[in-house]
Amino acid sequence: EAPRPSKWARRLKWTAYAAGAVAVVGGVLAYRHHPMPQQEPDPTKKTLLVLGTGWGAISLLRRLDTSEYNTIVVSPTNFFLFTPLLPSVTTGSLESRSIITPIKYFLRFKPFGIKFVEAESTQIDPASKTVEILDSGEVHGAITKTRLPYDYLVIGVGAESQTFGIKGVREFGLFLKEIRDARKIRTRLMDCIETAAFPGQPDDEIRRLLHMVVVGGGPTGVEYAGELHDFLRGEVDKWYPEIAPHLKITLIEALPHVLPMFSREMIEYTEKSFADMNIDLLANTAVQEVRAKELVVKDTKSGATREVPYGMLVWATGNTMRPVIKDLQARFADKGQSNRRGLVVDEYLRVAGMPDVWALGDCTATAFAPTAQVAAQQGTYLARQLNDLARTNRTGNDILATCPPFDYKHRATLAYIGDERGVSDVSLPFWSNMVSFAGYQSYLFWRSAYLSNLYTLRNRALVAFDWTKEKLFGRDISRE
Ligand code: FAD
Ligand code: NAI
Repeated sequence: EAPRPSKWARRLKWTAYAAGAVAVVGGVLAYRHHPMPQQEPDPTKKTLLVLGTGWGAISLLRRLDTSEYNTIVVSPTNFFLFTPLLPSVTTGSLESRSIITPIKYFLRFKPFGIKFVEAESTQIDPASKTVEILDSGEVHGAITKTRLPYDYLVIGVGAESQTFGIKGVREFGLFLKEIRDARKIRTRLMDCIETAAFPGQPDDEIRRLLHMVVVGGGPTGVEYAGELHDFLRGEVDKWYPEIAPHLKITLIEALPHVLPMFSREMIEYTEKSFADMNIDLLANTAVQEVRAKELVVKDTKSGATREVPYGMLVWATGNTMRPVIKDLQARFADKGQSNRRGLVVDEYLRVAGMPDVWALGDCTATAFAPTAQVAAQQGTYLARQLNDLARTNRTGNDILATCPPFDYKHRATLAYIGDERGVSDVSLPFWSNMVSFAGYQSYLFWRSAYLSNLYTLRNRALVAFDWTKEKLFGRDISRE
């Protein structure tokens, strides 16, 4: 039998435990109450204006040496949105606040203050080096519009949902890009279900109201269809058994297959899983018009058109430029700015034809797909460039050409497709082939990858809590 530790050894052990506990509580309190650094602008430093608080901008701000610049951030949202988990908010698997982080949470640990202005940039003028900003919130003060001067400008305003100008999409469709979109979808879904359950509702109207249509077989449309399936099978079947048999999900895609950016095996697995889950996939079908209660769709092979009645329509057919970018492009068309996908930048992320202006993420047209992975890596790259630029006391962004160009490293393409199944194409270091795997393991991988990628401990805790809550109590079916 091991000898019992001496009295002093036991005392030491308990003292160490107590000191550890005090350190943890002290750390949490210091983190919780960390004050925002305040700082007056320093006239000897250059003003760096950053537009946006999305993947690109946040990644830049996290690594930027703020002591080198008077930094101002302008964005209509005073938070960062973790978009990969947005589809889960549409069905209440996750609460909206679990996947957003106030911008000030990122900035408070910076040694030098960054000024945040909640506003939308409406016009960028590289000639006068100013940006017009508008307070686009609901509450207005005496001033709603002004111009901010800059020495260096970084544009990271992202993109908005593409409609291709198809009639009725903006009026009757719902998008899935912002946090408010996910809340709107959640409310509309329950509204359709409650309306279908209204006493005496005719059968064909119940079928229409419960026909949920998703347009666009890219990852946004596929992930949303998967989440919707889980909600209908997990909650509506249980709480609304009288109307549940009429529930139907249809995914409409103009191309022959969904998820064009995934490997062949993953595409096949997704399409087979959708068949198992009774998600109707209408491939080779393009939506031509959206009306209040039906869509007009065209078979891209035969050219035949028909009407499809629907209750809720979620539109996810990719990205288009924001108005501020369209406006900027139009004024620089003769300087090489005429790409319909976004701002043309060189391999150093400098915007063509505009000195001291960089752009990153979805508002640019590059060789890379418009993804969070690309935007985040561009943000890191640009932070390094800007830190270097300030430290070496150079002026203008011409000199940056001496730095290595941006090099994107693709890590993985992941998607959740519903029914606890995922699809993953993963690039491994030192191996040229991609590893693809699908199903339950891929779903667990997707969850753990995104949980660990969330930027703050607070968000990780909230997301883990929401997932546990969903397992124990199911999702909330309240309409609000
Ligand atoms: P965003 O992150 O969109 O940020 C743009 C910022 O600019 C926002 O803060 C916005 O408020 C602000 N802004 C808007 N207008 C103005 C203005 N006029 N002036 C100033 N600021 C403005 N990518 C992946 O790699 N993996 C995924 O799993 C994934 N899942 C996704 C799921 C969904 C539902 C969606 C919609 C996208 C997903 N993406 C994913 C794509 C990814 O979200 C985008 O590529 C990424 O957000 C682009 O980053 P960004 O910084 O360019 O723009
Ligand atoms: P997308 O551009 O990837 O896909 C849109 C789809 O809509 C296309 O397949 C297109 O053929 C189809 N379409 C267009 N018009 C149509 C019409 N009239 N009728 C029917 N179908 C039509 O768009 P998505 O999914 O919005 O993604 C945008 C970007 O965000 C992409 O770069 C994507 O990679 C990225 N993203 C990545 C995710 C992930 O990695 N898990 C998740 C969500 C988005």
